[in-house]
Amino acid sequence: MANMNLSLFGFFMIFLFFNLCLSCPGSQKQALLQFKSLYLKATNSSSDDPLFGLYTWNSSSDCCQWERVICSSQSNSSDVNVIALYLDTLVLTPMYFEPILVTSRVLTPLFRVTSLMILDISSNYIQGAIPGHGFANLTRLVDLDMKQNNFTGSIPPQVFRLRRLRFLDMSSNELTGGLSQEVSSLQNLRVLILEGNRFGGSIPEGIGNLRKLQRLSLRGNSFVGGIPSSVFQSLKELQDLDLRENSLSMVIPVEIGDHLTNLTTLFLSDNKLTGGIPSSLQKLDKLETIRLENNLLSGEIPSWLFDIKTLKNLFLGGNNLTWNNNAKIVPKCMLSQLSMKSCRLSGKIPGWISTQKSLIFLDLSENQLEGPFPEWLAEMDIANIFLSDNNLSGSLSPRLFRTLSLSVLSLSRNNFSGELPENVGDALKLMILMLAGNNFSGEIPKSITKIYRLLLLDLARNRFSGKPPSFDPDFLLAFIDLSYNEFSGKVPVSFSLDARILALGSNNFSGNLPRNLTNLSKLEQLDLHDNNGITGEFPRFLSQISTLQVLNLRNNSLQGSIPDEIANLTNLRILDASSNNLSGNIPARFGNLAGMIGTPRTFSSTPDLFTFSIEFNDLIVNWKKSKLGLSSYNLEIYSLLDLSKNRLSGQIPASLGSLKGVKLLNISYNNLSGNIPASFGNLENLESLDLSHNQLSGLIPQTLVKLQQLTTFDVSNNKLEGKIPVGGQMDTMDDPNYYANNTGLCGMQIKLPCPGASPPPAKPQEGEKEEPYWISWQGAVIGYIISFLLTLVILRFFGYYEALPPLSQQRRRRRGNRRNSLRSVF
Ligand SMILES: *[C@@H]1O[C@H](CO)[C@@H](O)[C@H](O)[C@H]1NC(C)=O
Ligand SMILES: *[C@@H]1O[C@H](CO)[C@@H](O)[C@H](O)[C@H]1NC(C)=O
Ligand SMILES: *[C@@H]1O[C@H](CO)[C@@H](O)[C@H](O)[C@H]1NC(C)=O
Ligand SMILES: *[C@@H]1O[C@H](CO)[C@@H](O)[C@H](O)[C@H]1NC(C)=O
Ligand SMILES: *[C@@H]1O[C@H](CO)[C@@H](O)[C@H](O)[C@H]1NC(C)=O
Ligand SMILES: *[C@@H]1O[C@H](CO)[C@@H](O)[C@H](O)[C@H]1NC(C)=O
Ligand SMILES: *[C@@H]1O[C@H](CO)[C@@H](O)[C@H](O)[C@H]1NC(C)=O
Ligand SMILES: *[C@@H]1O[C@H](CO)[C@@H](O)[C@H](O)[C@H]1NC(C)=O
Ligand SMILES: *[C@@H]1O[C@H](CO)[C@@H](O)[C@H](O)[C@H]1NC(C)=O
Ligand SMILES: *[C@@H]1O[C@H](CO)[C@@H](O)[C@H](O)[C@H]1NC(C)=O
Ligand SMILES: *[C@@H]1O[C@H](CO)[C@@H](O)[C@H](O)[C@H]1NC(C)=O
Ligand SMILES: *[C@@H]1O[C@H](CO)[C@@H](O)[C@H](O)[C@H]1NC(C)=O
Repeated sequence: MANMNLSLFGFFMIFLFFNLCLSCPGSQKQALLQFKSLYLKATNSSSDDPLFGLYTWNSSSDCCQWERVICSSQSNSSDVNVIALYLDTLVLTPMYFEPILVTSRVLTPLFRVTSLMILDISSNYIQGAIPGHGFANLTRLVDLDMKQNNFTGSIPPQVFRLRRLRFLDMSSNELTGGLSQEVSSLQNLRVLILEGNRFGGSIPEGIGNLRKLQRLSLRGNSFVGGIPSSVFQSLKELQDLDLRENSLSMVIPVEIGDHLTNLTTLFLSDNKLTGGIPSSLQKLDKLETIRLENNLLSGEIPSWLFDIKTLKNLFLGGNNLTWNNNAKIVPKCMLSQLSMKSCRLSGKIPGWISTQKSLIFLDLSENQLEGPFPEWLAEMDIANIFLSDNNLSGSLSPRLFRTLSLSVLSLSRNNFSGELPENVGDALKLMILMLAGNNFSGEIPKSITKIYRLLLLDLARNRFSGKPPSFDPDFLLAFIDLSYNEFSGKVPVSFSLDARILALGSNNFSGNLPRNLTNLSKLEQLDLHDNNGITGEFPRFLSQISTLQVLNLRNNSLQGSIPDEIANLTNLRILDASSNNLSGNIPARFGNLAGMIGTPRTFSSTPDLFTFSIEFNDLIVNWKKSKLGLSSYNLEIYSLLDLSKNRLSGQIPASLGSLKGVKLLNISYNNLSGNIPASFGNLENLESLDLSHNQLSGLIPQTLVKLQQLTTFDVSNNKLEGKIPVGGQMDTMDDPNYYANNTGLCGMQIKLPCPGASPPPAKPQEGEKEEPYWISWQGAVIGYIISFLLTLVILRFFGYYEALPPLSQQRRRRRGNRRNSLRSVF
């Protein structure tokens, strides 16, 4: 009996099982399987291993049981449909690997699943236009997430007809064009996120009709024009309002004054918006976050912003906004985050900030604030404080560090002075401490070594002295800049084994470089310049730090020869060993320096895990005839070799001609002899070549006319002779000082005709014709102007003297969503 019962029960179970399982409509299952196979093919995956979750998709099972698939009410077998597909991040591409791009055609089968209400295809590197005709099928969509792909083109009109949409996220793609007024048809939208694309044109006023909107983000695009005030006060009419299922549309009047009442989050930052902050914003009485930073907005910051009771996050920095320094602000809001970077605040740090008890982020950098760091501010326990580039003075209160909140403190380039409080180390959560460019003095308090989370320490350009403390090798400290201080003693190497940038230049360190520097095996930049006292041989062991990209030993007392092994540093892109006492030959193996051969790669050591831009560790190098500071943002595009002002002798190895990536080659002020290698004509990126003050002899090789980037060329004070090559940029290298004191140079560049009509020394380059002098001269003048302009452009784009937003912004843009609010990182 019992057995019978059991098998009956079993039958019942099997029946139930089948009933549940055979619920996925065959056509939808076919569509999904087809999607899977298209996707596998597109990514060249032989098995489904890398496709997380898709391995459960097979023809012998019920698609409602598959991972990433949700069906409608499964208990009602008469009407079961696939209603949600979570197809995000199908292939995890490790960072720094080439992503696998798939075309948007793989989506085609999905458009047959017309019952879909939720579709998430984010983070899949899908490229190509958004398939409009396909989306036209998905009329039931409520939630569409396409972020972090590589969709191009504009948003097809069919998307604006998906009237049920509540959530639309197309952020971090490559979408272009304007945002159509048609967006106003998406009457049910709660969330519209289009950030991190290339949309242009003005913000359509029709957005004001999206009355249910709660979150709007258009940041990180190229929108121009003003913030239309009507955006926040809807138009009199709603066009195209869809009342029923699909197509019925009509025009419905709405009362004037109705606006985006439910808007809580407004992100318009990082665009090119102009004009002022529209007063209609103050009607939005649920606003919690306003981000308008990094636009071209102008005018006065309205004080009513602080009357919005719900306001929590306000970002206005990086515009041309002004602050009324006499305004009496009595905030009705309770802010968590406030950025008024470069808003022309002057005088003392505004006292009303003390009423904002929940503040965790305060950025008042790049203003003209004066006076001390107020004690009340120290007592507020704010996690992230940015006050750099002001004129604040006085010393820091110990209270500032008696906190467990402080995570970022940036006070660079003010006029603070005195010693750092002894209790710096109490701020155990401190990750970033930037005090560069002040007048701090004394020793670094030992307690700082207690801060195990400290990641970045920038104390450059102060008057700190003594020996830097020993940091725990197991802590995080990766970015260290102690340069331009008065530190002394042996070169310190007790840092975290994770150190990536170590800048100790312009101090009074002395002695030999300690061998166990090689324990810092992740080091990418080592800068020890201008420590007159660093002695000993050129440290051979540095060749073991294979991660090194930048090595700056300029102006020390190193002697002996340059070891061959240095050529093993395949990542080395910048080597500056100038102004030492180095002797012997230039190693021929230097021609193998892989980092200087290729065009520079674009990965870098800059702390780009941070969500804000940091001016950190400007590396100063000799650039052409002056000094150039390379900020950490543009360092990666430079490749330099500077061995000048030593006692190097012998011939210049022809192998140096393989360093095609090098922009600057300076071996002046040595005892080098022999000829200039003809191979130098292959240095296609070379902008500056300085061979002056050596014993070089023979002719200047004709191959140099191939150097199209050349703008500085100095061969003075050698034993060169013969005709200066004519053609290309060589025609513009006509400063007589750069040819002076040679044995017998001649040529039109120095207005010295060569004796006789001597034939060109080497065979002319293909296509190069010797032209009559007067044409050459004309060419020379034009060439000079061009090269002059080029130099300006280069200085402007890559130089120190500009704040360099273009590159860094571009980078930040590319990183798309990773630059969210600070909170997400800390
Ligand atoms: C896939 O493989 C084919 C041939 O093996 C190749 O041509 C194609 O570039 C590969 N595609 C990807 C995305 O790897
Ligand atoms: C199909 O997938 C189910 C799980 O979803 C699994 O149990 C079954 O073994 C798979 N069948 C084949 C033929 O791979
Ligand atoms: C099952 O589907 C039918 C037809 O669509 C519907 O009338 C019925 O209410 C549904 N029952 C349940 C329990 O959802
Ligand atoms: C729309 O769905 C139908 C089936 O419902 C299908 O036949 C058609 O191909 C789909 N259109 C597109 C563009 O995918
Ligand atoms: C995305 O597409 C753009 C334009 O087609 C292309 O330039 C870019 O390299 C693509 N991005 C990636 C990550 O492949
Ligand atoms: C705004 O939100 C409230 C509460 O969530 C809701 O009742 C109201 O309908 C919303 N207003 C609009 C215009 O959507
Ligand atoms: C900034 O605004 C001032 C007026 O407040 C104007 O004179 C100036 O030209 C603006 N600067 C820029 C860069 O737009
Ligand atoms: C900074 O403040 C001092 C007075 O404390 C003043 O003399 C100086 O001019 C100010 N500098 C700038 C750049 O505003
Ligand atoms: C910095 O402060 C000192 C006094 O501590 C003052 O003498 C000096 O002028 C200030 N420097 C600047 C640039 O404001
Ligand atoms: C190198 O050795 C010194 C002295 O033994 C020690 O203090 C320091 O921590 C060591 N540095 C590294 C990076 O191992
Ligand atoms: C480094 O260079 C030396 C001499 O130039 C060579 O003998 C050695 O094999 C190289 N070591 C590595 C790890 O490449
Ligand atoms: C040429 O040599 C003379 C004498 O040594 C020196 O005074 C002069 O400055 C040199 N000219 C240049 C351009 O270097």
